[in-house]
Amino acid sequence: MPVNENAMRDAQTQAHTGADVPTAVASVPDTEGSESGVARTYARLAPLYDLMFGQVLEPGRRRMTTVVRALAPGTLLEVGVGTGLALAGYPSTADIVGIDLSQAMLARARERSARLPTHRIGIEQMDAECMRFPDASFDCVTVPYVLSVTPRPAELVREIRRVCKPGGTIVVLNHFSGSRAWWLLERAVRSAAEHVGFRSDFRYEEQILAHDWRVLALEPVNLLGLSRLVVLRNRA
Ligand SMILES: C[S@@+](CC[C@H](N)C(=O)[O-])C[C@H]1O[C@@H](n2cnc3c(N)ncnc32)[C@H](O)[C@@H]1O
Repeated sequence: MPVNENAMRDAQTQAHTGADVPTAVASVPDTEGSESGVARTYARLAPLYDLMFGQVLEPGRRRMTTVVRALAPGTLLEVGVGTGLALAGYPSTADIVGIDLSQAMLARARERSARLPTHRIGIEQMDAECMRFPDASFDCVTVPYVLSVTPRPAELVREIRRVCKPGGTIVVLNHFSGSRAWWLLERAVRSAAEHVGFRSDFRYEEQILAHDWRVLALEPVNLLGLSRLVVLRNRA
């Protein structure tokens, strides 16, 4: 189903403009050398990430940023910003914050954001399952290719709904298992996917439909429609 333009316009009216991006309210522990499996995995992967996952996941990122530009949010949070591959596509009118657990990935995101002088971008290390932002901080929250990587996706969902304003927009980009194309490829990609912390068994019904947010639009993206872009309205 293509992204519903009416729903996009509807959502756009919900987005407030001009608000300051909130800053973190406490200092951040450096998890890079700690027990965090995600940080360890992405410390190893960071030098190769753009080569391995830049182009192949780019069509989904491009659709996501197109949706965000149509919404024109005043404040935008990207959860799991990684090396910052989506940053250039966001509207330069937004105050943008990108967070990630991995310092190695964030170092690359900082370099990227420094090459975008027209954008206002803050990059911070933070666990998205336990964010230091106050409630209702952002008009829009994007979650590209993170939900199936984070150790406890339900905690992450709880947190993004808390920091997103009531009636604001949450955009999730992820693969979900169960489609015919995924079933065919699952065996081939399983070991590689799990090596980078990507769950291969990840169901849309359990991860998206189980929550009481409203699905505004759902669109298959990337090769063979293996990923899905899900546009959600946060509860008012
Ligand atoms: C597959 S990469 C996606 C990166 C980027 N969004 C992209 O489009 O390529 C997943 C990223 O999510 C981050 N991540 C996973 N769990 C996280 C969490 N709980 N809090 C913050 N970042 C997390 C990882 O460190 C990694 O950089």
